[in-house]
Amino acid sequence: MNDPAESSIQERIERLREIVRYHQYRYYVLDDPTISDQEFDVLFNELKALEDAHPEYRTPDSPTARVGGAVADRFEKVRHPAPMLSLANAFSEEELRAWRERLLRLLPEDQHADLSYVLGPKFDGLTVVLHYEQGRFVLGATRGDGEYGENITDNLRTVRVLPLRIPADPESERVPPARLVVRGEAYVEKAAFETFNRRQAEAGERTYANPRNFAAGSLRQLDSAITAQRPLKLWVYHIVILEGEPDPPQTHSGSLAYMEAYGLPVYHDIRRYADADFDALVADVLDFGQRRHDFPFEVDGAVIKVDSLAQQALLGFTGKDPRWAIAYKFASEEAVTRLLDIVVNVGRTGAITPAAVLDPVQIGGVTVRSATLNNEDYIRDLDIRIGDQVLVKRAGEVIPKVIRPLVDLRDGSERVWTMPETCPVCGQPLVRPPGESATYCVNNACPAQLTRKVEYFVSRTAMDIEGFGSKQAELFVEKGYIKDLADIYYLPWDEILALEGYGEKKVANLRQAVEESKDRPVERLLVGLGIRFVGPVVAELIMADYSGLPELMAVAQREDALEELGAIEGVGPKIAESVIEFFSLAPNRALVDKFAAAGVRVEKSEAELEAARQAREASAAAQPLAGLTFVITGTLPDMTRDEAKAFIEARGGKVTGSVSGKTSYLLAGEKPGSKLAKAEKLGVPVIDEEALLALTA
Ligand code: IVH
Repeated sequence: MNDPAESSIQERIERLREIVRYHQYRYYVLDDPTISDQEFDVLFNELKALEDAHPEYRTPDSPTARVGGAVADRFEKVRHPAPMLSLANAFSEEELRAWRERLLRLLPEDQHADLSYVLGPKFDGLTVVLHYEQGRFVLGATRGDGEYGENITDNLRTVRVLPLRIPADPESERVPPARLVVRGEAYVEKAAFETFNRRQAEAGERTYANPRNFAAGSLRQLDSAITAQRPLKLWVYHIVILEGEPDPPQTHSGSLAYMEAYGLPVYHDIRRYADADFDALVADVLDFGQRRHDFPFEVDGAVIKVDSLAQQALLGFTGKDPRWAIAYKFASEEAVTRLLDIVVNVGRTGAITPAAVLDPVQIGGVTVRSATLNNEDYIRDLDIRIGDQVLVKRAGEVIPKVIRPLVDLRDGSERVWTMPETCPVCGQPLVRPPGESATYCVNNACPAQLTRKVEYFVSRTAMDIEGFGSKQAELFVEKGYIKDLADIYYLPWDEILALEGYGEKKVANLRQAVEESKDRPVERLLVGLGIRFVGPVVAELIMADYSGLPELMAVAQREDALEELGAIEGVGPKIAESVIEFFSLAPNRALVDKFAAAGVRVEKSEAELEAARQAREASAAAQPLAGLTFVITGTLPDMTRDEAKAFIEARGGKVTGSVSGKTSYLLAGEKPGSKLAKAEKLGVPVIDEEALLALTA
């Protein structure tokens, strides 16, 4: 809003209040939000900022005046026996260390030596409070506002992992305590959530936004018969009250063991650290973040707690948060930003893919400027418009994706996008085959396709020609120097010398790089051909059995080709068919001959043949890296990181994303970054590529 009149500010504030109230109602009462937490935050923060700038418009009924959960009327209210505290958050390593420093300041010196911590996942579900009296489950409640919750006992009784009597094991000789109140998190596994939603959608029934809402909605059904059909699960992680126990646990880890002994569901991967090992704890917390997607349930952080209950009592709490615990929240994988434009790219196969041009935004420490929009239908079905504020998700290493527009934030200036009718590069009409969601440029001579093919051929994944990038690919195709891939080896260097920006030195270097690439292993050349499904791993598997491309080509044209190629370990019929189809076309076979004529190696060398023979013999036997965990950082001299990963995994080793106490080796190349410092700090041995090879020799 540029310098708006005061009245429109007031209008905007009122409009935002309505929107925020509506979404709070959907979230807290219906368990059916239509927007994500991040989107909600954008709205809420805008409201707060406006109210801060214009206190004269503040009202006591504004949603900003009341924060947190709400108790719905549908269930009986129950007062919790103690306030249900929440957790302070840390978002960085520094904040974790600052938390520890504070503990050390607050605890008497003579206790520092006994300080230890427990690390576990922060489950992203619905908090429940479970009451057992004389071993019977008598009451279960939601967290509500922390003081009062909702009585959902009947619904909780249907959750199969919740014991209705403790000890859960009737053979156990344990005597139950007079009173035990525990706190836990009810959740639904990600896969069960997906299955449920898919079935509901097929039946035209209501779906849920995410597993947490699904769990919450399922537990807050008025009819517990419905809850009983939902795949709810539960972890307990805290003892709120324990009475009538002669030998109560003295530590948090002891509490977990205590609850487990009675048959309550306790999550196992819980680790304990002495204060002296705080570095290892920090490393594991960060490692946790890398592995968050590996859990079958949603994990939105790690929780670190002081183990000793006596120390917990000494530390106490501030406001709603205990000082003895902290939640390390993983970086959000979502952000809201403006969609500036939608452009289309032409891929190697001619497929036209729309891409979002975004107002740059930070997600998980990376600046995101563009994101995928899948295809035409995706944009239309979600009604994504240019100028919209959109929710963007970047999970792990995958390409960022536009999830949906924030319709509430539209101001009328947004524009509907349509797929262009002609190829933005060659101008020929685009085609969308019936039944397919993709649109193609079917012009075989489209320079964009050839450019993409060249880019791929020269890339590190394939022939790895240094100094040859997208710029060169585009220029040489445009100039007509490259009409097929083999032309890369027939470039008119004299003409190139005359081009602007191509001085003697640069051309000499490029020429030499092209020359050197002629001697790459044949599987690299096979990758470079750009056959569908044939990437570096598959190419290596295929070429392991043949002397070179001519032999492969001959096999592919035989009648039993499908059988033979499909039988190669890791290949299968889909890949085999793709290879056969490629070599069935005369121009593609001619291409291989043209490479050979240019001096590009199409046959394996004697040494390679010998190596292949030995590899076959050895492969069954040794797995020299079995049991070892590697982290890779920096630029390696001969392998890309993907290759190094494949190399290690092929030899039985594991590769993870971050250095921890459990890392066996850090494989470091040039410009290693922060992982090197971490490894040195933790005493993890650092090796280079040569040493890696030596390990496997
Ligand atoms: S301990 C006094 N441990 O996260 C005990 N909480 O943001 C405080 N949560 O409301 C909670 N996993 O519902 C604890 N392993 C875990 C947890 C956990 C999930 C929830 C809990 C709490 C919220 C705090």
